[in-house]
Amino acid sequence: YVIGVDLGTSAVKTVLVDKQGNIAYETSESYPLSQPKAGYSEQSPEDWVKGTLTSLRRLVEIAGVSSEEIEGLSFSGQMHGLVLLDGDNKVIRPAILWNDTRTSKQCRRIEETLGDELLQIARNRALEGFTLPKILWVQEHEPEHMAATRLFLLPKDYVRYQLTGDLAMDYSDAAGTLLLDVTGKQWSEKIASAFDLPMSLFPRLIESFEDVGGLLPEVAEQTGLSVNTRVYGGGADNACGAIGAGILSEGQTMCSIGTSGVVLSYEERKDLDFAGKVHFFNHSEQDAFYIMGVTLAAGYSLEWFRSAFGKDLSFDQLLHGVNNVAAGAEGLLFTPYIVGERTPHPDADIRGSFIGIDAAHKLPHFARAVLEGITFSLRESIDILRESGKNITSVVSIGGGAKNETWLQMQADIFNAEIVRLENEQGPAMGAAMLAAYGSGWFPSLQDCAETFLRPAKSYQPDAERAEKYDQLFAIYQDIYTQTAELNK
Ligand code: XUL
Repeated sequence: YVIGVDLGTSAVKTVLVDKQGNIAYETSESYPLSQPKAGYSEQSPEDWVKGTLTSLRRLVEIAGVSSEEIEGLSFSGQMHGLVLLDGDNKVIRPAILWNDTRTSKQCRRIEETLGDELLQIARNRALEGFTLPKILWVQEHEPEHMAATRLFLLPKDYVRYQLTGDLAMDYSDAAGTLLLDVTGKQWSEKIASAFDLPMSLFPRLIESFEDVGGLLPEVAEQTGLSVNTRVYGGGADNACGAIGAGILSEGQTMCSIGTSGVVLSYEERKDLDFAGKVHFFNHSEQDAFYIMGVTLAAGYSLEWFRSAFGKDLSFDQLLHGVNNVAAGAEGLLFTPYIVGERTPHPDADIRGSFIGIDAAHKLPHFARAVLEGITFSLRESIDILRESGKNITSVVSIGGGAKNETWLQMQADIFNAEIVRLENEQGPAMGAAMLAAYGSGWFPSLQDCAETFLRPAKSYQPDAERAEKYDQLFAIYQDIYTQTAELNK
């Protein structure tokens, strides 16, 4: 067996996977998120560690397999979150997370200081969610914390450190810091020195499938695991989600709808200039890359809608009503910018809208418009990828958006592509388990692992009539951003 640990934003999920890729058992533990001020989003790294240890202990208990049979363990982690350690490797302040938006000023400073070099080296624009702006925020607002800092880590790296004693960061996660020379695979001294950051703050870089050692004896004792279980580096949740969806060669694309939504393609053309329109990150496969667009509030828009207007309904009930409304929600359009947006509009201030309300519209029309608006937003990312030359005819759908037939068909119609749903889909946790399986030498490549572990369950073909209808609505949808951009400035 191997274990995949997915350190998410609301919970940590652990899965035990056998040699055929079957999920033998899974457990999860949630932890709190604190929002001490508007736009702030923080978590306690100790909560991640406690949650992970508890989840692993329960996994071992319910699985009832001998700990010696568990060969390897690896991680997927929420990206970008800043963990600061002092000289004794103690956490200095709560982690500032990927969905914290306090850093607009620091983003502008980064863009102004580095100009074109930022895109050339880090391959991404400065966005509030990324790590460097968070470091600069601490530098400016909490100089005493910066002075005490000896090393920075990302969320899953801190958990891995607590499990093994090894301090490191893998390339796929490091790519989201804005401090990595992404194609050169080394920390950028140029970017570091532009902001007076000593190179000693930067952890050792490793591959996602690299063996970093065994579990510490006290961790083995607390979890029931063996000190002989090997631990592998792990990767960013989007890279792991891609591995778990089999996105391991050119031409493959996935759409992941969770709290946020992601459209991601494998990318071989490392010299192509995307002008920062999409994120360009290192994959968790060696020397590979991926490009992706992000809708900040995807599943979150639906959650918001249900809690604001459909509290008495389960998601199933809410989405069931959607089936009775025709494509296009009878003229009602929704934009999902309820917490700002990333792709194609890197704009933390924009807010969402319902447009075209008719006195005859009922709750199911609004619910359908919400699903369509989220999917239109993801279509904008699909179009950027297509414009870069990608021929996207088939997309693997994962996450919450892959759990509902109506939404899967809607993705096929709005993307005008075949949508594939996987059997036994486990998102990034599966990718983490696959890194451990590959690291443990079960397969000669991640691709071979994917061929054994991942099986398509069903595919959804676009309907020509609905696709055309959606194309027309999409053109109107795209205008809403420009028309409403000034509302919340
Ligand atoms: C990616 C991003 C999110 C987080 C979620 O850039 O910010 O997808 O990785 O955990």
